[in-house]
Amino acid sequence: MAVMRIFSLYISITFFFLCKTSTFSSSSSSSSSSSSYSSSDVELLLVKIKPSLKGNTENLVLSSWNSFTPLCQWKGLKWVFSNASLLSCSHLSSPQWTNLSLHKDPSLYLFSLHLPSVNLSGYLPREIAEFSMLQSLYLDINSLKGTIPYELGYTYSLSDIDLSYNFFIGVIPPSIWNLCESEKLVSLKLHGNSLTGSVSEPALPNSSCSNLQFLDFGSNKFSGDFPDFVTKFGALKELDLGDNMFVSTIPQSLAGLRLEKLNLSHNNFSGVLPYFGESKFGFDAFEGNNPGLCGPPLKSCGNNSSLSSGAVAGIVISLMTVSVVLASLLIGYFQNKRRKGSVESEDELNDDDDLEEEIDEESGGGGEGKLMIFSGGENLTLEDVLNASGQVMEKTCYGTAYKAKLVDGSTIALRLLREDSCKDKNSCLLVIKQLAKIRHENLIPLRAFYQGKRGEKLLIYDYLPLRTLHDLLHEIKAGRPELNWARRHKIALGIARGLAYLHTGLDVPITHANVRTKNVLVDDFFVARLTDFGLDKLMIPSVADEMVALAKTDGYKAPELKEMKRCNSRTDVYAFGILLLEILIGKKPGRNGRNSEFMDLPSIVKTAVLKETTMEVFDVELLKGIRSPMEDGLVPALKLAMGCCAPMASVRPSMEEVVRHLEENRPRNRSALYSPTETRSGSITPFS
Ligand SMILES: *[C@@H]1O[C@H](CO)[C@@H](O)[C@H](O)[C@H]1NC(C)=O
Ligand SMILES: *[C@@H]1O[C@H](CO)[C@@H](O)[C@H](O)[C@H]1NC(C)=O
Ligand SMILES: *[C@@H]1O[C@H](CO)[C@@H](O)[C@H](O)[C@H]1NC(C)=O
Ligand SMILES: *[C@@H]1O[C@H](CO)[C@@H](O)[C@H](O)[C@H]1NC(C)=O
Ligand SMILES: *[C@@H]1O[C@H](CO)[C@@H](O)[C@H](O)[C@H]1NC(C)=O
Ligand SMILES: *[C@@H]1O[C@H](CO)[C@@H](O)[C@H](O)[C@H]1NC(C)=O
Repeated sequence: MAVMRIFSLYISITFFFLCKTSTFSSSSSSSSSSSSYSSSDVELLLVKIKPSLKGNTENLVLSSWNSFTPLCQWKGLKWVFSNASLLSCSHLSSPQWTNLSLHKDPSLYLFSLHLPSVNLSGYLPREIAEFSMLQSLYLDINSLKGTIPYELGYTYSLSDIDLSYNFFIGVIPPSIWNLCESEKLVSLKLHGNSLTGSVSEPALPNSSCSNLQFLDFGSNKFSGDFPDFVTKFGALKELDLGDNMFVSTIPQSLAGLRLEKLNLSHNNFSGVLPYFGESKFGFDAFEGNNPGLCGPPLKSCGNNSSLSSGAVAGIVISLMTVSVVLASLLIGYFQNKRRKGSVESEDELNDDDDLEEEIDEESGGGGEGKLMIFSGGENLTLEDVLNASGQVMEKTCYGTAYKAKLVDGSTIALRLLREDSCKDKNSCLLVIKQLAKIRHENLIPLRAFYQGKRGEKLLIYDYLPLRTLHDLLHEIKAGRPELNWARRHKIALGIARGLAYLHTGLDVPITHANVRTKNVLVDDFFVARLTDFGLDKLMIPSVADEMVALAKTDGYKAPELKEMKRCNSRTDVYAFGILLLEILIGKKPGRNGRNSEFMDLPSIVKTAVLKETTMEVFDVELLKGIRSPMEDGLVPALKLAMGCCAPMASVRPSMEEVVRHLEENRPRNRSALYSPTETRSGSITPFS
């Protein structure tokens, strides 16, 4: 293979050891002796759950779980067959009670785990999420330590969870609200632990968690605001947030729920209580809060002329909302001057006919601005853009990106370029024109460009409500999909195709110049789309140089950029190599945070290869279900990434070669991946 040859020079030595490793097992050492159970739930209980729950002490109850005791005599468990009928253990005389071969019945699954008050002193293991039919988990009144594993939110069937009165610490994993989506969750009780932080919201806005009836977070150390989202949980009957450190007002909408029990006592709530109805809840449901909390059954709020703390909170909140509104910059520039512009065409731009271009010109008043419209942006008008309200998404070295809502309710993404960009109007328009031609499935299209009289420049793109690859890889949020190798490979291939198109698919090649996971959006089908490409050409040279210099801490910059400042396609390839390592290793490159050390991903790999611990560099999530890292394309991808990061620019492969290499070394098991997407056949653009 050509690609392999090109960079084999650089990596052949370091990868010598790697090639010996053709098969391996991703599971840890403890599972090696346990292949004799066909019911994987039985095996999981013995190998992972039991040792973890019991901690360092022997436990009488858990000692009943062993391979010499019939399943029916294992304490605290209920079992279900795959046909949904429960294993009946009720009669001591029934044959099941003594049947030892049930251990080996592959159609048998764990249904419930009830071990309240049995002196458990270990940890809740993450493998608890692997029981596919587990419905209830009661481990209350024990001495379990550690955090609640975020995998708990990825279980399939859990409806009742009670982990009350243990020693759990840390935050509630945001993934817990995933359990709402399966519409199974009925009861979640975490009372009497030492959980901290604010309660994070469900990933889906307006989640109604439609079967949740009992929610008990009482007697922990939660802080932050009242978790407003619970007021949308329409089925809720009992809510206990008492004895925590919540600070805020209590939303009036709480009164809209049909609550039968409520406890908000002993926090720092303030403001006016919602009116729940005549003496529905007593004084003790609200006592021990901020003295400013008022309204029946507490003291009446009166007509104090001084602001209650609730009102102050209200003002602060509304101030914050205002500051979120984009306006300041844009509206400062444009308001008072909105007159519908006349449409005028400009010759220098209309020589191209594969683009539909028009120019709206706003006339008079000194606020003259122009909107150039490109293919797909035909529905935009100057007025729309100027009246859009938005919020800051991100500030980059090129300027500020906003998410902006148009009057008709649709959303666009705006990039306001920083002031010292594009001083030479003609060369600037030429670059804009090139960018406007780019239509590719893996690149976010530019729909319009606005140039104001004072020189303000706005690039208008499609807004896609998607997560960045950076967030997917590094932020554990509710609803985050599992990133197995097939999915990561698809994302990497999409990015590579987008870059290859920029480098070789256009009349005038374009350098991305800012390849990083924060500039990759990923949709539900794991199609990657690049943003922020080609903007370096819009900066005046001294600014572009300054930006490269500023980005010293940035792990994506090719070494030659220290001497030579302009990016080119080879520096894109380097950045892609780092990005691919980031995908494989799961670590952020560069310096993250002020005092943290520089994360040099290529060095990590080189060190691991020398120590013959190469398999350990891969992100564990990536290894799930991988049998042979060689045949599944994992090791080839690591080699490819290292080739892209070669210190000498000339030995790096081109993006086209990278695409070919990734296409030739696909993961074998793609069943989880290609069902919905591959049939989508580029509905977005004709270029896919
Ligand atoms: C379900 O399967 C179990 C064992 O395979 C069997 O004993 C039981 O009769 C089945 N129940 C139903 C309702 O089919
Ligand atoms: C014991 O369980 C196995 C597996 O479920 C079943 O095939 C077998 O018939 C059972 N034996 C008795 C005596 O019930
Ligand atoms: C509970 O475990 C502790 C050690 O963690 C032990 O000292 C104690 O005797 C156990 N109590 C019971 C009732 O088993
Ligand atoms: C959530 O609800 C609010 C009002 O209750 C509504 O304006 C908003 O559009 C909803 N969002 C979604 C994503 O449904
Ligand atoms: C509310 O919670 C506090 C602290 O957990 C407790 O002392 C009190 O009895 C509870 N009150 C009600 C009405 O449940
Ligand atoms: C309660 O909140 C107020 C601000 O609203 C703060 O000044 C006060 O210190 C807090 N009290 C406690 C006990 O945390």
